[in-house]
Amino acid sequence: MVDETILKAVRARSSRLPGFHRLPLARRREVVAAWAGLSEEEAALLHDGLAADTANVLVENAVGTFALPLGIATNFVVDGRDVLVPMAVEEPSVIAAASHGALMARSGGGLETETDEPVMIGQLQVLDLPGGDLAAAAARVEARRAEVLALAGAQNPVLAGLGGGAKGLEARRLAETPVGPMLVLHLYYDTRDAMGANSVNTACEAVAPLVEAITGGRVLLRILSNLADRRLARARCRVPAATLERAGMPGTLVARRIVEAATLAVVDPYRAATHNKGIMNGIDPLAVATGNDWRGAEAGAHAFAARDGRYRALSEWRQDGDGDLIGTLELPLALGTVGGTTGSHPTARVCLKMLGVSTARELAAVAVSVGLVQNLSALRALATEGIQQGHMALHARQVAVAAGASGDEAVRIAEQMVREGAIGADRARELLAGDGG
Ligand code: MEV
Repeated sequence: MVDETILKAVRARSSRLPGFHRLPLARRREVVAAWAGLSEEEAALLHDGLAADTANVLVENAVGTFALPLGIATNFVVDGRDVLVPMAVEEPSVIAAASHGALMARSGGGLETETDEPVMIGQLQVLDLPGGDLAAAAARVEARRAEVLALAGAQNPVLAGLGGGAKGLEARRLAETPVGPMLVLHLYYDTRDAMGANSVNTACEAVAPLVEAITGGRVLLRILSNLADRRLARARCRVPAATLERAGMPGTLVARRIVEAATLAVVDPYRAATHNKGIMNGIDPLAVATGNDWRGAEAGAHAFAARDGRYRALSEWRQDGDGDLIGTLELPLALGTVGGTTGSHPTARVCLKMLGVSTARELAAVAVSVGLVQNLSALRALATEGIQQGHMALHARQVAVAAGASGDEAVRIAEQMVREGAIGADRARELLAGDGG
C-alpha cells in the first residue's frame, strides 16, 4: 500500500512521498533512484561512495574515510519544482524536521527564492603606502582599474568565456588600525557555477605586483572573503494558519507564538546564535552531501548576521492579515555545482544529479529553502510542545546503537525506551541483554 502511493508519487515526480520513512533502507534507495533517474551504479554510490584510494588523493595523510548518515528530505517545492534534498548529517532529528517544515511550506504553495549572481569578493591588503596617503592610493587604483580587472580576468579564460571573471574593483580605506593605515581592495569576481575560492585567490595573487606598482605600497593578504555578501540567496514561504493548528491550539495562535519566539532572535544574540544554528542545520548537511565547503557557508552566514554590528537572526517571521505565517531568510551562499569536491566525490556527484540543479544559483535556491523550513520546523516545535518529544524518540535510537544494538533491534529497543519514558544507556544495555524486554 505504502509502495503503491510512493510509486504514484515517483511517476508524478512529486517530492511528497507519504510513508517513505517507513520503507526499509534499501527500498528507499530504489525509490530515490527511480525518482531521480539514477543508474544502478549511481544508486550504489549513495552508499560507500568514496573509496579509500580516492580519499588518499583528496587529502594529505589519509588513513580512510569517515562516513555520515545520508538521508533524503522530502516534500520540498522550490520555485514550483518538486525537489528531493540529500542531507549528510549525524543529528537524528534534522532530516525529519526538514521534511516536516517543507510539508508546512508546501501547504502554502512551497518556497519562492531569489539569488544574486555568483560574485565572490577577493581582498588585497595594501600596507606601507607612501606618506600613509590612502586617498591618493585609492585614486591611483581607480585611474588604472581597467588594467587591474583585465589582468585579474585573464587568469581564467574558461570562466571569462562563460561570462564570469573580474567584474569590479573597490578600494576601502582603513585609516586607523593597530599596524597603521591600510587600503583594502575588493576584487569582485564572478565564479559562475563554482564556489570559486581557487579562481578568486589566483586572481588576487596575480594582480598583487601590479597593485604594488600602482600604489607604491606593499600587498600582504591576497585571499577571498567568506562574507560573500554579493552572492546572497533569499527564500520566502507562507504557511496557512490552518496548517499550524495543534490539538487544543488554533493555527493563528501557533503562528503568533512562532512570531514571538522568532522575535527573541532578532533582539538577543544569545537566542540568535541558536536560531541561526537551526537554519544551518538545514544548509550544512546539503553542503556536505554536495561536496561543498560548509565551513565557508557557516562563516558567511554568521558574519552576515552581524553585519550591522549586532548579531541577530538571519530569518524573519510575521503574520499577514489572515493570520497566516510568512517567513523570509536571506544569507550569503557560496556553493558550487562544479569544481572542488563537488566533482571528485562520487556521492556528491550523485546528490547533485538527484537535486536536478545545473547551476550554482539553483543549488543556492534549494539550500536557502532548506534553511528556512528547518528554522520553521524548530520554531513550530519550540513554540508549542517543545522539541524534546520528537527529538528524544530519535535520540533513543542513538543510545541503543551506542549500547551495541544494530538495525531493527536498535529501533525496537529505542521504541521500548520511549514507551517506558526511560531513555538511557543502562536501560538500553538491559534490553539488549534480553532483561526486562
Ligand atoms: C538544534 O540542533 C537546533 C535548535 O536548537 C534550533 C532552534 O532552537 O531554533 C532546535
